[in-house]
Amino acid sequence: MAPSTGTAEARAAEPQGEAAHFERTVARDQRIEPRDWMPDAYRATMVRQIAQHAHSEIIGMQPEGVWITRAPSLRRKAILLAKVQDEAGHGLYLYSAAETLGADRSELTAKLISGRQKYSSIFNYPTLTFADVGVIGWLVDGAAICNQVPLCRSSYGPYARAMIRICKEESFHQRQGYELLMTLMRGTDAQREMVQDAVNRWWWPSLMMFGPPDADSTHTAQSMAWKIKRHTNDELRQRFVDMSVPQADALGVTLPDPDLRWNAERGHHDFGEIDWSELKRVISGDGPCNAERVAVRRAAHEDGAWVREAAAAHAAKQEAR
Ligand SMILES: [Fe+2]
Ligand SMILES: [Fe+2]
Repeated sequence: MAPSTGTAEARAAEPQGEAAHFERTVARDQRIEPRDWMPDAYRATMVRQIAQHAHSEIIGMQPEGVWITRAPSLRRKAILLAKVQDEAGHGLYLYSAAETLGADRSELTAKLISGRQKYSSIFNYPTLTFADVGVIGWLVDGAAICNQVPLCRSSYGPYARAMIRICKEESFHQRQGYELLMTLMRGTDAQREMVQDAVNRWWWPSLMMFGPPDADSTHTAQSMAWKIKRHTNDELRQRFVDMSVPQADALGVTLPDPDLRWNAERGHHDFGEIDWSELKRVISGDGPCNAERVAVRRAAHEDGAWVREAAAAHAAKQEAR
């Protein structure tokens, strides 16, 4: 039951109508559901955000997926296989959430493979060694958790509920990455160097995962007002840095930032300037692997055409019976 917000007279005096219902629901921290009225711009923002998230999960299978056949043991292969499969599941979950807003899944896929919709910039970097699998789990899934835990309280119900399960799986991903790195750090000098090299390459792109600085973020203010987003990009980035520093210490790796230090006055770590021109370049399609990622996704979609046709034919046959 909805919590009471005051006397019957006060409630009667509240503005009525669909728009007022939407505003009240958001103000009370309750959830907007698919059948509720919502402003067109809210719907468009949700579709854009959920689609971009779904695309990121699906494209995100590629950098790690290429290591499944080369994982160094059966145990590592099984873990990596499970992790990559989880990401596929996250993508499907999220496409379903977008469908509750009236979006068409095949249209979203068409937009992804034609470059009209984005996915997270982080997946446009290559995975050069098996240590990258560990660092992606630790830093990339770690950053994803920072971003996504607050989304469990997002104002759009189906998205918020999907995030609960997704976050549980992401925390498994983060731990498996950290455990893999711990194992490598207990190994040979060459293995330790491999980990440090991977950390050097992934640290800055991980910080960019939180998006542009608040001052340049076009969507933040409206998304915060609608409670789609609960914290700003810079707040989440700071949280991630503060969380990662002691983890790097425990691991015995150096984060590649000479300006990284504890600031007792702020109660947070200060860190160096991010190269925003790199983020812009990668987002605009000119990162190291953008073309490859989209080409692989497009080929997979085309190769899967017969499966979609067969499923549709089967469904039509069932219906005719
Ligand atoms: Fe995921
Ligand atoms: Fe993940």
